[in-house]
Amino acid sequence: MTNGNEWWRSAVIYQIYPRSFSDGIGDDGLGDLVGITERLPALVELGVDAIWLSPFYTSPQKDAGYDVADYCDVDPVFGTLADFVTLEKRAHELGLKLIVDLVPNHTSDQHRWFVEAMAADEGSPERGRYIFRDGKGKDGELPPNNWDSVFGGPAWTRVTRPDGTPGQWYLHLFDTSQPDLDWDSPWVREQFRDILRFWLDRGVDGFRVDVAHGLVKADGLPDYTPPASGGSMGGGTVGLEPEIEAHAADDPATPPYWAQERVHEIYRDWHNVLEEYDGERVLCAEAWVEPLSKLALWVRPDEMQQAFNFSYLETPWEGPAIRKVIDVSLEAFTSVGAPSTWVLSNHDVVRHASRLALTAENPQGHGIGPKSPGKPVRELGLRRARAATALMLALPGSAYLYQGEELGLPEVIDLPDEARQDPTWFRTHGERYGRDGCRVPIPWEADKPSYGFGPTGRSWLPQPADWAPYARDAQRGVAGSTLELYRLALALRAEQDLGMGGVEWLPGHGDDIVAFRNGGVIVIANTGEAAVELPAGEILLSSERLGDGILPGDTTVWLRA
Ligand code: NOJ
Repeated sequence: MTNGNEWWRSAVIYQIYPRSFSDGIGDDGLGDLVGITERLPALVELGVDAIWLSPFYTSPQKDAGYDVADYCDVDPVFGTLADFVTLEKRAHELGLKLIVDLVPNHTSDQHRWFVEAMAADEGSPERGRYIFRDGKGKDGELPPNNWDSVFGGPAWTRVTRPDGTPGQWYLHLFDTSQPDLDWDSPWVREQFRDILRFWLDRGVDGFRVDVAHGLVKADGLPDYTPPASGGSMGGGTVGLEPEIEAHAADDPATPPYWAQERVHEIYRDWHNVLEEYDGERVLCAEAWVEPLSKLALWVRPDEMQQAFNFSYLETPWEGPAIRKVIDVSLEAFTSVGAPSTWVLSNHDVVRHASRLALTAENPQGHGIGPKSPGKPVRELGLRRARAATALMLALPGSAYLYQGEELGLPEVIDLPDEARQDPTWFRTHGERYGRDGCRVPIPWEADKPSYGFGPTGRSWLPQPADWAPYARDAQRGVAGSTLELYRLALALRAEQDLGMGGVEWLPGHGDDIVAFRNGGVIVIANTGEAAVELPAGEILLSSERLGDGILPGDTTVWLRA
């Protein structure tokens, strides 16, 4: 039951990527739960309402923890279950809600379920937990269909029988080490109800659901050839503008592995599991689904509560496109009684302080590296990112922030090849750089080794030599710093209750200008290069220093209405 006033409708939620947040134990250059607990006060000071932890579960770490070998335990590299309990207690004491990640589309190939499936006979119940099929061709030497993995290469791997002869194939939409579960199996469904209850019993406030559009595959697993134009993180959708325009129509080309109608049964079931618990718990869909009218199906009143608005994330820094995506988003989500969940960065995409100044096409998941065309100019990227964040945080609904964006961190473009760890990099033989550039451990103290990330000075991905000015302590209390801009925006957002407000467009501005009123605040974002006249009024916030009566390009201001 919703009362229309739940915390998640307007919350600002901070994504912690555990391996890159803070190394508290100081053993291996990898962040951990102790490090997170120690640093929570910094997030309270920032002004967020909740945190989302990316996976910290037992895992061989082939996909940075999105390959789970035990859903109900903590990987030793991150600590122990007791460390989790301490973290959770501390977060709640500090008034922060806590969301954890749930990875239901696939397990690790080292999960007991898969190890047992591999040891069992073809056609056995153990095999039935996953998607094993006979191959095509004379001797089954060809994969069962033509699907590709999101990370590149085929989505099928053939197994070897105990006698050494080649056997069946199993499906993995991601890495070979991430076999897809068969969600037609009642046994699988039961396991996940138990996993939800395990974490709910420990008091978590909700789950971010990985690949929430992928669990159910079309009957018969038919061949599918995606349209030619690139792809996104598990979505296979690009070219935002035409797809937003296709708002009213149904998507004619839904791949047989994404956004199948029957996936919604699962979320209705999980909704009921959450209802068994007191308080306002939340499920947030990571579903790369367009158009937004279709994504809204994930947040119908009896399903999930939030779905990341990736259409917004993918919108270029251009006035007309931004106005349009805001309108379409509010219409789509309002029609099902859900908030829009805005987001600009996460651990899968080029950080928006770089992305917004890219001058060449860069499909999601491809990353940028030394040889990428159209590399961003850093100052322009940061300027646009600050303006884009100031705009996003003035919108009604919920918003997610990705660790380090409050410091203005850019994507790390020049990681040495040998440091890269994203499976995308390996599976495409270096053709796609992948996502390591947004995952570099974040800087806390300018003058310390590894910028205070951990006591050993080590970090699992090398940090750039010029990151001292981005460190939190270098920005704290410094007027105009990106950190202080975020703090001010979050404080005003809370004070003015913007998350529960609405958007009233203000007419009379040029194409580059996004201008609206939300309650007591007027927001004006100039997405163009040229300065424009700034309406009179009390300035509450500005993403850049302002000249008299002038709103420079790539700048957002908030005025008192
Ligand atoms: C989406 C996650 O955010 C990403 O990091 C991961 O690689 C894939 N899902 C597969 O789990």
